[in-house]
Amino acid sequence: MKRIYLDYAATTPVDPRVSKTMEPFLSENFGNTMSLHSFGQEAKIVLEESREKLAGVINANPNEIIFTSSATESNNLALKGSALASKKGHIIISSIEHHCVVESAKWLAKNGFEITEISVDKFGKVNPEDIKKAITEKTILVSVIHASNEIGTIQPITEIGKICKEKNVLFHTDASQSFGKILIDVKKMNIDLLTASSHKIYGPKGAGLLYIREGINIAPLLHGGGQENGLRSSTVNVGAIAGFAAAAEIYKKEGKKENQKLIKLRDKLIKELLKIKGSHLNGDPKKRLPNNVNVRFDFVEGESLVIQLDMHGIACSTGSACSSATLEPSHVLLATGLKPEQAHGSLRITLGRWTTEKDINYLLKVLPKIVKKIREISPFK
Ligand SMILES: Cc1ncc(COP(=O)(O)O)c(C=O)c1O
Repeated sequence: MKRIYLDYAATTPVDPRVSKTMEPFLSENFGNTMSLHSFGQEAKIVLEESREKLAGVINANPNEIIFTSSATESNNLALKGSALASKKGHIIISSIEHHCVVESAKWLAKNGFEITEISVDKFGKVNPEDIKKAITEKTILVSVIHASNEIGTIQPITEIGKICKEKNVLFHTDASQSFGKILIDVKKMNIDLLTASSHKIYGPKGAGLLYIREGINIAPLLHGGGQENGLRSSTVNVGAIAGFAAAAEIYKKEGKKENQKLIKLRDKLIKELLKIKGSHLNGDPKKRLPNNVNVRFDFVEGESLVIQLDMHGIACSTGSACSSATLEPSHVLLATGLKPEQAHGSLRITLGRWTTEKDINYLLKVLPKIVKKIREISPFK
């Protein structure tokens, strides 16, 4: 059976061009960037070149990029690091953040920090005015996800960043799903801290970054040899970082064309899926990621759809990969005002570099029949 991967928001395959870039780091180029000899110095050169390439994607300076192991680590560092470095005690997040932001905020709450969660509208969008109202004299940081990993909604982060700047509060955005997919300019968008992850953009797992605007004080979470400007001790994973940079370079060259293809396929899929009786689009109809489709079907459970689709060789998900193993309804969908049973009826289809029109046509052939079959045996209809 042919297998079709439509879960690119969970993770992406490594682009063969990226794998090729990484090959030498698994053999001859194994040096430790902190070593003084030529093996170390060669690794250090690659590290700094990678930093420069990745900084260029978001109009940052290379010295403003800290490498981490993942977006989870970057988000932990952004929230906990800025909280621990501050004498103030209040953090603001949105109600549709990824679990790693939510859990970092919960940890801070347990450790004496005050947390405010800003609600979103039915499309999953934050109103910048709500952020403005929530900022107090004690606010250290506002953290709002750039584009939702579940429903694809893109937030008005330039406006939110502007408010934070005016109020002298740090602004962090989790750009794990937008970095390498849509244009980001940290200067124009008033971003102080930004998270990105390699494995979401056809790079390897095990590399992430945190952009930290020059002059911002962050406390490290990992102490040791003082790598990454003292902010992230641990021997640097040069091969993965070189792969991350190579993936970003491909996006710079090909991203525009790729997005045009994805938007066309996404819109076709949404249009056709909404023809199924009792189907609804989750997330913003216009301000959404080029590769994200999230639909819900009345009287149908998303998990059943995922299993049935898998039996037809199609891989998609109900929402965030981290929470799909639990049977809890998605906090993101609940935040948009859906009832738990509506949230349970949702299916996330995320397209990518190797998605073809043929794949979409196959999905469109199979899915309506599966929805019909599941509905026929639903006790709720
Ligand atoms: C928005 C968002 N933030 C954070 C993460 C965590 O990324 P990583 O797997 O690199 O830790 C993900 C991945 O699912 C994500 O989609």
